[in-house]
Amino acid sequence: MKLEVAVDVLMGGGLVALPTETVYGLAADAGNEQVVRGIFELKGRPASNPLIVHVADVEAARRVVADWPTSADELVARHWPGPLTIVLPKASSVPDIVTAAGPTVAVRVPDHPMTLDVLRRLHARGVLGLAMPSANRSEHVSPTTAQHVRDEFGDAIPILDGGQCNVGIESTVVDLTGRAPHVLRPGSITINASPRPPHPRRAARPGSDRQEPARSPGQHRRHYAPNLPVRLIDDDHPAPSRPVLLLTRRTHSIQNTTPLRIAADAVGYASELYAALRRAEKLARGTDLELWIEMPPDEPEWAAVRDRLRRAASRLD
Ligand code: TXA
Ligand code: MG
Repeated sequence: MKLEVAVDVLMGGGLVALPTETVYGLAADAGNEQVVRGIFELKGRPASNPLIVHVADVEAARRVVADWPTSADELVARHWPGPLTIVLPKASSVPDIVTAAGPTVAVRVPDHPMTLDVLRRLHARGVLGLAMPSANRSEHVSPTTAQHVRDEFGDAIPILDGGQCNVGIESTVVDLTGRAPHVLRPGSITINASPRPPHPRRAARPGSDRQEPARSPGQHRRHYAPNLPVRLIDDDHPAPSRPVLLLTRRTHSIQNTTPLRIAADAVGYASELYAALRRAEKLARGTDLELWIEMPPDEPEWAAVRDRLRRAASRLD
């Protein structure tokens, strides 16, 4: 679909899938409660899981928050537009449904020329921003191409095709409401922040105004999961005793495996990961094939990829 049409659909209270540098998003006017509700319905997303508000620039970001700390200035100067989401106290203009009735809002400026263009045009027409989760059914793998979005929702949702997302995994989410920033969801941007709140004694004292720092309600253990059994294995694993699919960074073949090759460096791996998981799903359809994934090393540059792999492999049942 054309960019102008996407803008009109969004203005008219419709949903559109938009490209970002991380993954495709399912966008709705963040100020329109009714259409935002449609996002939750379409994705099968629990109402307790808040959405990220996407805006064109810092000025627009300031309009969706109640307070803008200096810690935010430094972070966004370095990383926006880009795969960084910050969590701050919400402005009253943001409908409760967007933030799952919580006191904070997540906001980011995505780094994709088409979506930035859409956002600028919408702001010019008075729109606060776009509520935009990844354009996949809840708990499934996020889409990194327009075709992936079609595979999720068929023709139900118009798509603005902006090519392949080059980062390939979702933004880093950083909570700035506490005394020190902390990372709620790891992503390609590694910032100097503690991975989780330092101690449980952070809960607000009765009668005090201090809010508890936002946790990441969307970080269920099983998330980003493809539709086949996934097993994480060491690099030096023995050959399997029966046929499996093998997601591997190496070029040599191992007996009994159908290799799905993926980039050996962390940046390339992240950009190819979700397409590889979807390919594995297709190959395994109608079979009982498992997907084995060689776990990349426990090093900081691999943290976000390792987080997604652990989630892809976990089963609640
Ligand atoms: O890269 C991305 O962030 C993509 C693209 C489309 O921008 N979006 C995305 O949205 O990944 P979603 O809805 O799939 O994931 C948003 C995450 C969830 O884990 C959610 O719980 C968390 O951000 N989140 C949203 N609002 C929050 C808030 N107020 N406090 C804490 N976590 C929040
Ligand atoms: Mg998602």
